[in-house]
Amino acid sequence: MNDVHLADADALSSMDGGAFWHSPGEAAILAKIASQFGTPTHVLDMNRLRQNYRDFKREFAAGGLDCTILYSVKTNYLPNLVRALKAEGCAADVVSGYEMELALELGFPGDQITFNGPHKTAAELERAIDAGVFINLDSIDEARRLNRIAKDRDRSIDVGLRLNPGVAIYRGADPTYNKMAERAAFESKFGYTVPGGAAEAAAAEISALSHLRIIGFHCHLGSQITDVDAFAQSLERLFAFAAAFAVNNPLERMNIGGGFGVDGIRRERLGPLRGLLAFHGCDNLDAQSEGFPLRDFAAAVSSLRDQHGLSGVQFYCEPGRAIVSDAMALLAAVSSVKETGGASWVIVDAGLNLMPTIAMHEDHGIREVAPSDAPKTRFRVGGPLCYEGDILSAAKSLSDDIAEGDLVLIEDSGAYTVSRATNFIRPRAAVVALEDGEASLCWRREEFADVFSFSVSPGQPAIGSR
Ligand SMILES: Cc1ncc(COP(=O)(O)O)c(C=O)c1O
Repeated sequence: MNDVHLADADALSSMDGGAFWHSPGEAAILAKIASQFGTPTHVLDMNRLRQNYRDFKREFAAGGLDCTILYSVKTNYLPNLVRALKAEGCAADVVSGYEMELALELGFPGDQITFNGPHKTAAELERAIDAGVFINLDSIDEARRLNRIAKDRDRSIDVGLRLNPGVAIYRGADPTYNKMAERAAFESKFGYTVPGGAAEAAAAEISALSHLRIIGFHCHLGSQITDVDAFAQSLERLFAFAAAFAVNNPLERMNIGGGFGVDGIRRERLGPLRGLLAFHGCDNLDAQSEGFPLRDFAAAVSSLRDQHGLSGVQFYCEPGRAIVSDAMALLAAVSSVKETGGASWVIVDAGLNLMPTIAMHEDHGIREVAPSDAPKTRFRVGGPLCYEGDILSAAKSLSDDIAEGDLVLIEDSGAYTVSRATNFIRPRAAVVALEDGEASLCWRREEFADVFSFSVSPGQPAIGSR
């Protein structure tokens, strides 16, 4: 059965504010989902998803920034989720041919799709221009490739160009981290860097191509950005560049990318110095979790826009995480609890193959679905995968008497999990969507036959066919 009615969820679905799992009835609902669909299973709260989109839109408008919102499909490409955002009026940002196909299949008109990313094949470029998809170029080679296609079709194509303002947008208390962040920002592989002249040279070279016309610029500076000043400072450089370009060229689009941080994630910002201190027992990992004041940011950007005379230009942004992060949580079950090596361990059935963000220094909330009254203990939370690094957290406070079979919730699993999961050692998880008191399967669990269906052995029966 792919659906289950949750009588007690009816009241919850009308709740304002947080996702349903911050409500008093969450434990019963999650227990029902676990028994019906098994674990590990992501639970997607459709109401929360829609609310996040509406909040995002409202905050940008309140800050005075009229901006077309393109949902970043790679952040979470679940068709049901993308469809729901489309119904809210959202457009799409795609970074590969198959994401573009998905957006077209879900009914986005071509002119509501923007194609970004550092690699676009000739076939993908052809498909994009035939469908009326807007392309942000990432390199001169890509521009030449597109120009040849446009010439063959005797068409002139309006394009955007990705720029890199070269400003570090991540800062921490560790000066060695900040030095690395500055260097990484300048040397990014994406687009062309403004300081140093690479962007100006690339724009000139692309403008000289016979069948392309640059009408916009794009940037995307990173993800889980929490520093509004650094973000605005980066855009200032970009806007100055765009304003200079606009003196002799048409400028119609300005795309400021995504990256807006969320409250539920803490990113560790460790350079060699703090890494060394942590190694020697210093517990302060300098993780940041301030979220992102969208309204203040939008106000800062709209004032920069006006200062640089760009008020006639259409603005675009590409949020991913800000829309989906806390709309989903991963429900897992405790497999074992043990004391070893001086540490208390809880091993759960969801690993880093499902939560790759944790391996990228993002700390997620992990809590028991039905905590007991027992005192709390600091546990290490390990995943089920057979390698040392499969650790979900080095320190979480859980009930002292937590036991095999208890359910835990790994919060904020909406971004970069389903679309980034691997089947290393264990299969990818199911996703259950909650809507109007119903929990229904919207992405099935991967199975043995799925994984080995890629095997090609002439003369042998297909693996999984027995
Ligand atoms: C080009 C582009 N746009 C938008 C996003 C979405 O970023 P976020 O989820 O941090 O908002 C990404 C993700 O890295 C991206 O590469």
